[in-house]
Amino acid sequence: MSISENDKALIKESFILIDQNSTVFSRHFYDCLFTLEPMVKPLFKAERNLIEKHFITLITLCVKKIDNFSEMNDQLFKLGQAHRYLKVKESQLAIVRKALVLSIEYELRSKCTPSIINAWSNYIDLISAQMIAGLNSEAAL
Ligand code: HEM
Repeated sequence: MSISENDKALIKESFILIDQNSTVFSRHFYDCLFTLEPMVKPLFKAERNLIEKHFITLITLCVKKIDNFSEMNDQLFKLGQAHRYLKVKESQLAIVRKALVLSIEYELRSKCTPSIINAWSNYIDLISAQMIAGLNSEAAL
């Protein structure tokens, strides 16, 4: 699994706008997630602001590392392992993808295009694949 140069360019370019409004963006992301899948809400114990901050920090890092994605491998594997302890299921990653797409569409509004959504979907699949490896690994964290 890899991501095309065209997708990389679309992600970097669209992230400039998302990053300018990252606090609102991450709030919308969790609003979407909890609306799509209310059952997961009780899993989240930390303060909402902190959860949002951690999420946007990770996405920002993933965008920065998009040209050297293998440098993210260890961190994402460990994040997947941590999610195993949080009782997250592999099937729930699809909801995160959907919530991310909805919050990107909302953030970019008229500037959003199907190619941008496709690029982000591909990238979240790549990120998720590395997390899934950690999620399904037997190794202790
Ligand atoms: C690509 C998918 C995902 C990414 C990038 C992601 C990212 C993160 C990050 C960065 C954290 C913060 C970890 C820390 O504090 O060090 C976190 C925590 C968490 N994530 Fe995820 N996550 C993903 C998928 C999921 C899914 C599918 C679920 C469950 C529905 C989930 C549930 C949680 C929970 C319960 C926490 C802990 C929050 C707390 O401390 O209260 N995550 N996630």
